Amino acid sequence: YYLGIDIGTSGTKTLLIDVSGKVIAEANAEYPLEQPKPGWTQQDPEHWWKATVSTVREVMKASKVKPEAVKAIGLSGQMHGSVFLDKDDNVIRPALLWNDQRTAAQCEEITAKAGGRNALIKLVANPALTGFQAPKILWLRDNEKRNFDRLAKVLLPKDEIRRRLTGDYVTEVSDASGTLLLDVVKRKWSTKLLSKIELDAALLPRVVESDEVTGTLTSQAAKQLGLTTDCKVVGGAGDCAAGAVGNGVVKSGVLSTSIGTSGVMFVHSDEPQYDAAGRLHTFCHAVNGKWHMMGVNLTSGGALQWWVDSVVQGLAGIPEKSRYEAATREAEKVAAGSNGLLFLPYLNGERTPHADPNARGSFVGLNTTHTRGHLTRCVMEGITFALRDSLAIIESLDVPVKQVRASGGGSKNPMWRQMQADVFGKKITTLEVEQGPAFGVALLAAVGDGAYRNVEAACKATIKVADETKPDRSAVKRYDELFPIYRDLYASLKDSMN
Ligand code: XUL
Repeated sequence: YYLGIDIGTSGTKTLLIDVSGKVIAEANAEYPLEQPKPGWTQQDPEHWWKATVSTVREVMKASKVKPEAVKAIGLSGQMHGSVFLDKDDNVIRPALLWNDQRTAAQCEEITAKAGGRNALIKLVANPALTGFQAPKILWLRDNEKRNFDRLAKVLLPKDEIRRRLTGDYVTEVSDASGTLLLDVVKRKWSTKLLSKIELDAALLPRVVESDEVTGTLTSQAAKQLGLTTDCKVVGGAGDCAAGAVGNGVVKSGVLSTSIGTSGVMFVHSDEPQYDAAGRLHTFCHAVNGKWHMMGVNLTSGGALQWWVDSVVQGLAGIPEKSRYEAATREAEKVAAGSNGLLFLPYLNGERTPHADPNARGSFVGLNTTHTRGHLTRCVMEGITFALRDSLAIIESLDVPVKQVRASGGGSKNPMWRQMQADVFGKKITTLEVEQGPAFGVALLAAVGDGAYRNVEAACKATIKVADETKPDRSAVKRYDELFPIYRDLYASLKDSMN
């Protein structure tokens, strides 16, 4: 048996699988997010640890599996965050998270010290973005000097949980890619960038491949979790790469979309490839020796949630439980293209393709024929167009794209699956059972334990495609007409967004 633990932003999900990939038990525990100022997001790692202990105990109890039968644990989690530790492993201050926007000045400094944006992309494959880890360390130096003077180690969220499980400071290549300090091509820390920005390499953990065993449980952790000290912990992966493994996106030709709060368009690549303008992230994949590129939309399903919760629900007085179905049922009656109405989903700034923390949302083209159904539909279309922006950049690189595997909230609704097929002009597939990142890292644990030869073999044996949605020709044509208009709107409206 193998455990997968995903340390998310709103909660932790833990699941237990057997060697065939069957989910035996799962548990979730939620925790709060601190937002001390607009654009600031932080969390106390203690919440993650408590959620890890309680969810592991819960799945062990529910499954009745013997502790010694659990051979390995895989860890996943929200990427980019920074846990600051002193020399005695005390957490110095709450961890800054992936969607925290406070580091614009430090991003500029890193870019300048690296010798400009292109030089930085050459060193670490990516431009400096406010959510990434390196600018967060410099923010601590600039704003909390006392804390910075105590700093001995900086860990990513899931790697702080690893430290509490095994006592080791270790990360793995997929999550390390999102620090901005990894030489993504060589899969090791960039000593060049570290010295240019004057950061001590001793602050960072050891880096391994995602399916490598990094240690075993300490006796204290084994006792707390109700497991044994023989239980291994493997590298695991950041939640995007882990989700891709869980979706079987581990070889060329398949691309995945995930519409959750944020939106991710993810593609496997046998070679590291870059968008020259730095609009896509080029990161190491959790597949040994492979890479992936992805585009991230900061507000994706979150925009539909905003629309339904704050507008549709209020107007119609629809009970909470059925509000999404009611809203999407209205949207289903509207033809593709929402009668010319367009929506930009940048409610909280945007990463891909604009890298603009000040971008904002808008409806454009309203006329008196538009109903609430048109507005709901065009919100969904805007979210899907934002993913197409990433797809267009991916397709401009030398990466084959044959099918798109949909996951997250956007894959559950048949209308949204069809909309994705039509907006992307590609066949959409979904999985029989979709379990996300926790499942992906449980598979990595199975690989690390030797149950499968490699990640590809583990996915082949355990993941089954359930459903296929083909694009509808006339809808594809309509979306092909509208997409360039959508794409030009940001540039025209940019100066009026604030
Ligand atoms: C990826 C990213 C988010 C977080 C959310 O680059 O920032 O997907 O990992 O958990």
